[in-house]
Amino acid sequence: MKKNRIAILVSGRGSNLQALLDAIAAGQLEAEVVGVFSDKPKAPALARVPEPLRWSGDARRFPDRASFDAALADAVEAVRPDWVICAGYMRILGETFTARFRGRLLNIHPSLLPKYRGLHTHARALEAGDREHGASVHWVVPELDAGAVIAQAVIPVLPGDQPDDLAVRLLPREHALLAAVTAWVVQGRLTEQGDEAWLDGQPLLKPLSLDSAGQLTHPTAT
Ligand code: GAR
Repeated sequence: MKKNRIAILVSGRGSNLQALLDAIAAGQLEAEVVGVFSDKPKAPALARVPEPLRWSGDARRFPDRASFDAALADAVEAVRPDWVICAGYMRILGETFTARFRGRLLNIHPSLLPKYRGLHTHARALEAGDREHGASVHWVVPELDAGAVIAQAVIPVLPGDQPDDLAVRLLPREHALLAAVTAWVVQGRLTEQGDEAWLDGQPLLKPLSLDSAGQLTHPTAT
């Protein structure tokens, strides 16, 4: 079977990108990374793949969001991806980009969406007094962090936690979540239908959850 082609968008350190590369190397994800794209030319994430796979554009040198998004979309399209994954991509993607990749565009976000779209999610969960926090993988729509949620990983909030404690504890769960969701996406099990996330031809009434063994479980199964 032809391997699915994955393009990955990054802005920083790239540990979620690394999780996908590791899952491919371990045979857990039947896919090929065909390009890594960044809005930050100095993003350390870029160094995780060979030079021919890297693309970066300095967003500050473009006159507006739409012109940067168009350049990014052209570069992504040139590698003919089946899927485009935002793995720590911190720049808002405008409709110029999202419309071109709708239905094959995923994002990982460090909160239990619909809570805390946008930035500073760990601090906001603490300020709200939440007992649980987590990460979500969702289909990307033009509105920020508003697309259908596919799956979530939950962690407890412990007494005395600071935002960095949550970030550190959540990160390995993010890695497992993103790898597990991507594996099912490339298998064709997970799709976006209209505004909904579907699994195996059925709408998901609730997001899938990641269990302690790193497996996705359906909310109807306990
Ligand atoms: C991750 O925690 C990811 O969930 C978050 O940025 C971090 C990137 O880490 N993404 C967002 O906040 C998107 N709005 P990484 O570069 O090590 O993968």
